[in-house]
Amino acid sequence: MDKLVICGPSHIQGEVDISGSKNAALPILMGCLLAQSPVTLSNVPHLRDVTTSLQLLATMGCEVMMDENLNITLDCSVVHAKEAPYELVKTMRASILVMGPLLARFGEAKVALPGGCAIGSRPVDIHIQGMKQMGADIQIEDGFIVARAPNGLQATDFSMPVVTVTGTENLLMAAVMAKGKTILRNAACEPEVVDLANFLNAMGAKITGAGTPDIEIEGVAALEGVPYRVIPDRIEAGTYLAAAAVTQGCVTLTKVDPSHLVAVLEKFEQAGALVTHTQDTITLDMRGRQLKAVDIETQPYPLFPTDMQAQFLVMNAIAQGKGRVVETIFENRYMHVAELEKMGAAIRMSGNEAITLGANKLIGAEVMATDLRASACLIIAALVAEGKTTVSRIYHIDRGYERIEEKFHRLGANIQRLSS
Ligand code: UD1
Repeated sequence: MDKLVICGPSHIQGEVDISGSKNAALPILMGCLLAQSPVTLSNVPHLRDVTTSLQLLATMGCEVMMDENLNITLDCSVVHAKEAPYELVKTMRASILVMGPLLARFGEAKVALPGGCAIGSRPVDIHIQGMKQMGADIQIEDGFIVARAPNGLQATDFSMPVVTVTGTENLLMAAVMAKGKTILRNAACEPEVVDLANFLNAMGAKITGAGTPDIEIEGVAALEGVPYRVIPDRIEAGTYLAAAAVTQGCVTLTKVDPSHLVAVLEKFEQAGALVTHTQDTITLDMRGRQLKAVDIETQPYPLFPTDMQAQFLVMNAIAQGKGRVVETIFENRYMHVAELEKMGAAIRMSGNEAITLGANKLIGAEVMATDLRASACLIIAALVAEGKTTVSRIYHIDRGYERIEEKFHRLGANIQRLSS
């Protein structure tokens, strides 16, 4: 299994291109199942979760092609297997996102119950509840969710009891071809949901209100493939900004959308960073500045994202003053704390709160990645730590960060991948 070896401390300095968003690309890839003709996607990041998604679509009969510019063309005009097998679903729980499109277009779907990131129980009950309310018959059979709607789905008015990102996306895709007008209430407002809705609308869907808690979907008979460009990855962006902040460096992100990062940029400014942006770049300058601890509470968009919690916890550990991080989205999303403690961080846990008193000096250690964003925070910690850190189990990071060691290396980090 590959490992990353990082020797610190370093100053992160320079310019880095932000890749396409993983969390936007995955639902869009699954959304291609709705199209009767080929879709061509650009700015799709080259990540393990994307490869898994393409593999999944290929097992169903979709044709996958990639050109020299790494644009992906997907022809899902013929889909012979309406099933997501356990071997693929267990490595990526976003595979559940095939359910909505398969039910919408073919009236049947069989999806293994998901595994994925070990960050709490992460149920899919709301996905199931919504599709049932659209008239699907859904049973759990031998570890599979088996859904049937032989006469098509019916529009409905569904209020989600909890704000769920993939739940909103799955139900949005289920509803695009349902008869009548569906209203999804208490929907997730994340930019990735908006990107999916824009993609579906480009293909002929009639969706309004994406990006607000009430989304309206007027069912249409069929969708046709189009070219589409995926939005930039706001979490990858935030991760490189955090790396510059902890190392008192200065980084400029290009090909980014600052409007997706308002709550995060505000916290970087509160933490003492000088942040400037144009329409598609962000610069964070921490040179000669003192990092201050900040209080954070994770909440659905547009508030502070749970996917940036781990990175800010590292910032708080080394910053001046007391910091309080509250995780409200996922239970058990603090597995990085034990690893950070090995590096010298003093973090007091109390329920879903992580309190730091600051000014911790981090020292290199052997640590283990436990989930995607937790692994990013270990790299950030290693960049500021004195000495050598070895991060194992980095397959987690390969799920979500494109060419991470190459990008950090170009920003001045002493980082190396060891393959074994
Ligand atoms: C997505 C993102 C993930 C991010 C998360 C929250 C993708 C591929 N992943 O995950 O990176 O951390 O949003 O911003 O886009 N819940 C239920 N029942 C359900 C569904 C969810 O109770 O049927 C709960 C979850 O347990 C959790 C909360 O809702 O407590 C939010 O989860 P959700 O938004 O669904 O996360 P994901 O869509 O899985």
